Amino acid sequence: MENYSVGITGIGKYMPEDILTNDDLSKMVETSNEWIVERTGIEERRIAKEHISTSDLATEAARAALEDANLKPEDIDLIIVATATADHAFPSTACIIQSNLGMENAAAFDLSAACSGFVYGLATGASFIQSGAYEKILVIGSEVFSKIVNWEDRNTCILFGDGAGACVLERCETGYGILSFDLGADGTGGNTLIVPAGGSRTPTTSETLKQKQHLLQMDGKEVFKFGVRIMEKATRKALEKANLTTEDVDFLVPHQANIRIIDSATKKLKINPEKLCINLEKYGNMSSASIPVALEEVVAENKIKKGDIVVLVGFGAGLTWGSMAIRWSKGGGKH
Ligand code: ACO
Repeated sequence: MENYSVGITGIGKYMPEDILTNDDLSKMVETSNEWIVERTGIEERRIAKEHISTSDLATEAARAALEDANLKPEDIDLIIVATATADHAFPSTACIIQSNLGMENAAAFDLSAACSGFVYGLATGASFIQSGAYEKILVIGSEVFSKIVNWEDRNTCILFGDGAGACVLERCETGYGILSFDLGADGTGGNTLIVPAGGSRTPTTSETLKQKQHLLQMDGKEVFKFGVRIMEKATRKALEKANLTTEDVDFLVPHQANIRIIDSATKKLKINPEKLCINLEKYGNMSSASIPVALEEVVAENKIKKGDIVVLVGFGAGLTWGSMAIRWSKGGGKH
């Protein structure tokens, strides 16, 4: 089989308009702006309106990415949607987006790896293109976590927000694009971040609803420790596989879970904090959407130049992690 180089040729995002500030949250649960900023770095987050779902946000992000790549919907061969908040168990959110945008020639599926999902999606898409099976793939990270958060639990409700980001993958100049990735999982940590009910293990009953088991539960301390450890390890692994070192990194785009996790890991990696792409103060943790939205913003600001080394690193429920080293193949900014 051929082995083509694969790069990001288009990128887009879509953020809901409504903003929920830390002060708003302090009227809902016992917390304060000071506590949230000091412990997480988050100042506000976007919340989708009640009738808006993950596919609605994803459709707009996908539209923007297609436009940036200068492609028509019918050009797309495959749609991969990374999400932990799918519209339904089935049909897949990817099929709904396919229909919304008329991507009639595309296969479509959802991918479940929580906050690592977007990197898993890029790695999957790139492999399809490298093998020669497909040429143009849309990878989307989209979440409406506001619908699975327990708004009475101050340990979790302050962290999350809604949003969507999308990338188009295509063949690119040899030596550019995705250089390496490292994906991993540790299922023994599954219970640290879980929506216990609503699936086939514990179907929804009036009792599960009363106990709020259809909502997210998290052991924050365990996830925190895991995040620091794995962000460092996975970043090093992706760089190693690409024969690069931390000194080669021009932009580090981490999952936007907590500024203290990012700072600790970056310190261990000895990466200059100026190379970090951070937007969690505006959006909180958007799970699979965090990395593509943060990447979209540095691209839109015209900061990344062709040839720059961009590292993506995510971690989350599963537990899962994913990192990727990219030699940026596009010209500066969006088209
Ligand atoms: N406001 C005020 N006080 C609070 C709040 C709040 N929102 N939340 C917790 N507290 C209290 C606690 O009750 C505790 O009080 P106590 O000492 O009287 O018991 C105190 O603050 C300290 O609590 P800790 O849990 O020790 O706080 P910590 O500094 O660990 O921060 C946090 C908690 C922010 C949740 C942190 O552990 C964290 O960020 N963990 C990682 C979370 C994460 O990344 N999750 C997403 C993974 S991605 C995915 O797949 C979805």
